[in-house]
Amino acid sequence: MNQTNSAPSGGKFDFIDILGMPRATLEHLLAVAQRLKAQYRSTGRNDPVAAGKTLAMIFEKPSLRTRVSFEVAMTHLGGAAIYITPGEIGLGTRESVPDAARVLSGFCDAIMARTFAHDTIVQLARFSNRPVTNALSDRSHPCQVMADLLTIREHFGSLSDLTLAYVGDGNNVARSLMEACAVFGLKFRIAAPVGYELHASDVQAASSIPGFDFQATTDPMAAVAAADIIYTDTWVSMGQETEKAQRMKIFTPYQINAKLISAAPAHAVVMHCLPAYRGVEITDEAMDFDRSIVFQQAENRLHFQKALLAVQIGLRPD
Ligand code: CP
Ligand code: NVA
Repeated sequence: MNQTNSAPSGGKFDFIDILGMPRATLEHLLAVAQRLKAQYRSTGRNDPVAAGKTLAMIFEKPSLRTRVSFEVAMTHLGGAAIYITPGEIGLGTRESVPDAARVLSGFCDAIMARTFAHDTIVQLARFSNRPVTNALSDRSHPCQVMADLLTIREHFGSLSDLTLAYVGDGNNVARSLMEACAVFGLKFRIAAPVGYELHASDVQAASSIPGFDFQATTDPMAAVAAADIIYTDTWVSMGQETEKAQRMKIFTPYQINAKLISAAPAHAVVMHCLPAYRGVEITDEAMDFDRSIVFQQAENRLHFQKALLAVQIGLRPD
């Protein structure tokens, strides 16, 4: 059984983390996403490659973009999605994760999960004989950053010769962004306060990709000085609510605002995975200015995930 990331050419195609996936597989997903997006834009429909298929969606945390975009993606592909909360299935309490994975595999054609522990997703993938997708864990958010790459490529025309500066918490989104930059050859800069950096072991793993250009600093101005893309995320991720007061103080100098944007090149765009806490990690001015691409970025969640689902359960690889 194929338990982790794999090329779509054989076995089931789990989508758990960026690092470890062949670049060609990720490129293929982006190409399919572009094609399905163009098809939907021009005709108002996609081919029903998932007709009769069902996606199980397990959510241990809240969601707007991820839940709706996965569900709409299945609808556009002619299939259906079922939203499941852990309270209903008692994941890990009423029933073990491996047993739930085996049972869902008997009913559904694919599983996606948003969890606290990353290992829950790894276990689902291990014990399911259907493809499993990471829809965000405490470790990573690979669907988000693939939609981000699609957005960056749409804006700049290519992924070559670009610098992405992430300002804020060295969290799940930052980790997946770093991995995506390593695989696709973008320079990655991160400004994070001491104690909130990306883990050294994760940086080391990404650095195993030849040519990866990584720099970390505590100074947001330095991080964005040569940035084509300025990216941020919440300072308080889901599950960290008890740390909120402390984090608000520590992260104050890391806000994306007009002053920080003026320290970047004049063409730099602003990205945020959303939800944004306006006036906290990003000002209204930065969210709403003409080089903010946050809503294009949000919409692309639909197009990337449609491609992922199509490849996992519908389309045969080219
Ligand atoms: N960016 C993102 O994953 O948003 P949701 O938490 O609303 O799904
Ligand atoms: N880092 C955030 C991302 C939300 C999409 C969180 O985990 O809550």
